Amino acid sequence: MESDLLTREKVFRDPVHNYIHVQHRVILDLINTPEFQRLRRIKQLGTTSFTFHGAEHSRFGHCLGVYEVTRRICDTFARNYPSTSPDDGLWDDQQRLVALCAALLHDIGHGPYSHTFEHIFHTNHEIWTQKIITDPSTHVNQVLQKVSPNFPDQVASVIAKTYPNEQVVQMISSQIDADRMDYLLRDAYYTGTQYGMFDLTRIMRVIRPYAGGIAFNIEGMHAVEDYIVSRFQMYQQVYFHPVSRGMEVILLQLLHRAKYLYEQGEMAGFEMPSLLIPFFENQITVSDYVRLDDDVLNTYFNLWRDHPDAILRDLVHRFLDRRPFKSIIFAPEQQNKIHYLQELVQNAGFNQQFYTAINNSFDLPYDLYRPSSKEPKTQIEFQQHDGTLEELSTISPLVQALSGRQSGDHRFYFPKEMLAAPESSTFAPYLREFQAQIVNQTLK
Ligand code: NI
Repeated sequence: MESDLLTREKVFRDPVHNYIHVQHRVILDLINTPEFQRLRRIKQLGTTSFTFHGAEHSRFGHCLGVYEVTRRICDTFARNYPSTSPDDGLWDDQQRLVALCAALLHDIGHGPYSHTFEHIFHTNHEIWTQKIITDPSTHVNQVLQKVSPNFPDQVASVIAKTYPNEQVVQMISSQIDADRMDYLLRDAYYTGTQYGMFDLTRIMRVIRPYAGGIAFNIEGMHAVEDYIVSRFQMYQQVYFHPVSRGMEVILLQLLHRAKYLYEQGEMAGFEMPSLLIPFFENQITVSDYVRLDDDVLNTYFNLWRDHPDAILRDLVHRFLDRRPFKSIIFAPEQQNKIHYLQELVQNAGFNQQFYTAINNSFDLPYDLYRPSSKEPKTQIEFQQHDGTLEELSTISPLVQALSGRQSGDHRFYFPKEMLAAPESSTFAPYLREFQAQIVNQTLK
């Protein structure tokens, strides 16, 4: 059986979890596939490293981390809550391998500079994750096939959240899952910020299975509360950082310009991005998809420093040499006035289509279960001593204060040069006026 255990456990040294323990041959074989090794060449946080220079960590490390957190959850469940009859709502350790494989592979479909890339080329990493798992041409699929012919489909259905065992689905995807627990700790470590820290060891003590999925023992309420607050702070301080977004906007416009030039027949010779053509043409195969990584894009960007198109050349310079666009926060009511700022940018000699952008950041730190919402979320449940369940925000005033509240902002991005003479004579006062209106609105 390919699901057999290794004769000797293999370990990977990890700065967040200390050791990642690999016990199954199939897990080691998956790590050694080209599709998984590609994740070494995709940065976990994209343009965030332009703000927090330590944040050069890759999706490879994150995926190993999510695997390790899942493995520890399985260990806790198997030790303390083993199922003895099919309907007791406890943990069936036969589910371990599918959970571990889904955890390891959950981000295998990420493209380079994920969010920007998805935005331009209309790809979706969750869909591509499922394709890479189920397409017979991939090494990942061939490794999974050896467990059983329908095993790839089972693993993909965990990612699609259609797998019948809710405990397995919630381990990988819920408001407190192995994915989030790993990325908060990992991103806090590599950015050098302390906000993302929380007590994972304590959470591993109090997490438990129940018939509806995963819950926590009431003694662990403060550890979970701290995790929610950490998550909120990481979004505010790291993920939504306006400078990282200023670089993301440049990347987005740079790819837009490259696509435009390709469509105009103005990409030729060594500047032709051959590996991007399937994406420009919107005819993408799995093998096209897995050829891409951050290094491929950065190499094209570097070649385009000599491109005849002045806009592309300039955007590439801004990206590679870190010249982020500046931004201003605006209220949704001011959206209809943005065009005036865009005109000023255009009048200053910048093509506004490529030199301005609107970027919004929004997140719910914790959401109550709303089955009618577009993406209903599982809530975090606590098991009381009498066995009844209580939802987190009903017992934590701190989480109650954050529940269902969107945090984030709308920003208008523009070239920094707009703040300098001579165009600034109209632009800067207008920005000030704009900002003053926002301050007044917030005060109201
Ligand atoms: Ni992830």
